[in-house]
Amino acid sequence: MKILAIESSCDETAAAVVCDDKNPQKRIFSNVISSQIELHAKYGGVVPEYAARQHLDAIDGVVNKALATANVSLDDVDAIAATAGPGLIGGLLVGTVAAKTIAFMKNKPFIGINHLEGHLLTVRLCYDVEFPFLLLLASGGHFIFAEILEVGKYKILGETLDDAAGEAFDKVAKMLGFEYPGGPSIEKYAKLGDKNRFKYALPMQRRPGCDASFSGIKTATKIHIESIPGMSNKDKCDVAASFQNIIVRSITRQIEKAYEAMHSNPKNVVLAGGVAANLALREAISNFAKKNGLTFFVPPVKLCSDNAAMIGWCAIERLKAGYSYSSLDFKTIPRWPINKIA
Ligand code: KG4
Ligand code: ZN
Repeated sequence: MKILAIESSCDETAAAVVCDDKNPQKRIFSNVISSQIELHAKYGGVVPEYAARQHLDAIDGVVNKALATANVSLDDVDAIAATAGPGLIGGLLVGTVAAKTIAFMKNKPFIGINHLEGHLLTVRLCYDVEFPFLLLLASGGHFIFAEILEVGKYKILGETLDDAAGEAFDKVAKMLGFEYPGGPSIEKYAKLGDKNRFKYALPMQRRPGCDASFSGIKTATKIHIESIPGMSNKDKCDVAASFQNIIVRSITRQIEKAYEAMHSNPKNVVLAGGVAANLALREAISNFAKKNGLTFFVPPVKLCSDNAAMIGWCAIERLKAGYSYSSLDFKTIPRWPINKIA
């Protein structure tokens, strides 16, 4: 089975051709990403209307490049997949309309994919990871602990009550005047800083359950920054290191509670989403896994952030699990939690 997939839910226009080869190394024929980072960097965040226009400009070239790199034509693919949500409505419309148009023209089936499901199944594109597993999905817009029982059967254990972790990274980077996107910048400068210099209270300690909260950490960071007029580069690195450290500590504390709340008996813990690129977080979750006798899996860094290979792979997993194609009037769903995937 060969799928042409499109991803355009946020600030990357991406297309890929993937197949269901038994060997994970042979599954991705092409994975093309046109990033909008330069466009949004000057605003310090994604401007939805500009993003939509840029998707429209880039989509044809990206799809053609994905086909050419994979050395396949539209006649060779079995189906066209596209992210149908959650995400920014303009980008979702560009990607799904492009996919549906190709599907209609070529008389091929179309399948609308949930972006978060794409992130959470990416690990199975890369490795043989068995269900059930404990998932932490941390991206720019989402922060979720979930029990992943099988394809399409996802139970949310806890979520952020305010900002997503990636969003907190982006906002704090902006406060420090670091370049966009903020996560990689904070990680880079944190390496040079003292993580124990600024003190924080660990959030959510007295609250039952494993929900998370990052806005208090963000506000505390703002207060730390305001307490040092004319910050030096060293001060900024210390803030970045202390901020990253409390975020990682807080996530590690909450994932323990998420694990306790699971009803199944997982052997694996999986980290997914853009924030999964963060090495300090990877190390902390890896330690948590060791402590609890779990095996830790995380996709390679370039498959953690938004890409279309994950959307194509998700389509393959769904079809193999017996879920059907989508009709051409399948609507985009800008808000679409993982426990509401039909
Ligand atoms: O999954 P993703 O590419 O897009 C969304 O679906 O949101 O995640 C992007 C988020 C951004 O907030 C970005 O700052 C964060 O992931 N991120 C990181 C790192 N790399 C990307 N956060 C922390 N450390 C990183 N190395
Ligand atoms: Zn994403």
